[in-house]
Amino acid sequence: MNHEVNEQGQLMIAGVPAKELAHHYGTPLFVYDVDRIRANAQAFVRTFEEYNVPAQVAYASKAFSSTAILQVAHQEGLSLDVVSQGELHTALEAGFPVEKIHMHGNNKNIQEIEMAVRCSIGCIVVDNFFEIELLSAVLKEQNKTMDVLLRVTPGIEAHTHDYILTGQEDSKFGFDLSSGQAEEAFLKVKEDPNIQMKGLHCHIGSQIFETDGFQMAAQRLFRTLHEWKETYYYEASVVNLGGGFGIQYTEEDQPLELDQYAHALIKEVKALSRQFDYPMPEIWIEPGRAIVGEAGTTLYTVGSVKNIPDVRTYISVDGGMTDNIRPALYNAKYEAALTEKMKEPAENKYSIAGKCCESGDMLIWDVALPAVEHGDTLAVFSTGAYGYAMASNYNRFQKPAVVFVENGEHQLVVQRESYQDMTRLDLSYEKGKGKEK
Ligand code: LLP
Repeated sequence: MNHEVNEQGQLMIAGVPAKELAHHYGTPLFVYDVDRIRANAQAFVRTFEEYNVPAQVAYASKAFSSTAILQVAHQEGLSLDVVSQGELHTALEAGFPVEKIHMHGNNKNIQEIEMAVRCSIGCIVVDNFFEIELLSAVLKEQNKTMDVLLRVTPGIEAHTHDYILTGQEDSKFGFDLSSGQAEEAFLKVKEDPNIQMKGLHCHIGSQIFETDGFQMAAQRLFRTLHEWKETYYYEASVVNLGGGFGIQYTEEDQPLELDQYAHALIKEVKALSRQFDYPMPEIWIEPGRAIVGEAGTTLYTVGSVKNIPDVRTYISVDGGMTDNIRPALYNAKYEAALTEKMKEPAENKYSIAGKCCESGDMLIWDVALPAVEHGDTLAVFSTGAYGYAMASNYNRFQKPAVVFVENGEHQLVVQRESYQDMTRLDLSYEKGKGKEK
């Protein structure tokens, strides 16, 4: 992987020595290269513009949601995918334009739907029959209309980790196409005067490197839309192919350039529109990881170094599974470097342990590094997606701070959690003072 290194052999992030950031803000620290985020967004946005294809590139904020990142996403012309009231609230606080917000979720509750309708967000991606009933009732009560997409499972299995497969039919998400459920949902939605049925949505999985899965999914959606056009004279104006575009965590990962994914999707949808003589719909996508993943680096400070002769050397850092659960949860692989020793040969093997009281709290097994000493700053790369977003307070560790760096300037955008924050919601228990039933 290519990293910015200065003449002294220091790791630089967007023009600032990583070590300086670690000193200034403390560790563990999430650092985002904002230029990189903007370039990732533009790789998608520009490609659609070049082809002159109407599109919405929605940032899947589940990958990392905070006021600052949503502001940058908006500046780069992205729409927004939210999956909960919390993500919607964050978007509203960040001043994200409501009409560009799409809401997902396989179990949206009445409060979430009421809030989405009250704010007149751009679109709800409807996931199940119960939700159609809730949405109909809320729209009637608020005397409003709402654009919707139907989420369908096209039966495509992306070649990725089992836990993050979502496009196959045996899934908690969406309506499956083959049993007729999607059609039943379509007819329900279509007969509701307050619901504008804009089209179909699918998401076939995450960290996908090839384009054929997306192309097959688009084919399934078009076959369905073609049938509905023949049978019900219905024409969709939107086809949403979800997110899941792969990124590089380690040298072994060989994703495409981001514009190549967009390229392939546009070509496929254009071809299908010709093949089925179907009016060209807008293409919507929802990348999360591809926007922020490689733009994020986590900085840690090395604490103890434990050598077990002839077995292994463990180095423990001041974070771990509480700021990056992905190695423990998915066996995800990462690369690391010592920020001040970028030009020194990586001659030793180390295993990087987190700080939690849990043997499974390992960030990386057997990574080659120069000689590690207590106090070194260790950088773990490509941690920008699903790192902070899935952080926890296990063992009552504080969630780290987040810093944005652009053109040699750094800015704190999420404060480090304090111990007061940690006990803020706690109440003391007083025996005999509870409410009686
Ligand atoms: N759209 C939908 C409907 C999704 O379910 C997801 C991710 C995305 C878009 C964005 O996918 P992305 O482009 O970020 O791959 N925690 C896991 C990933 C779970 C993804 C869930 N859905 C991880 O750390 O790898």
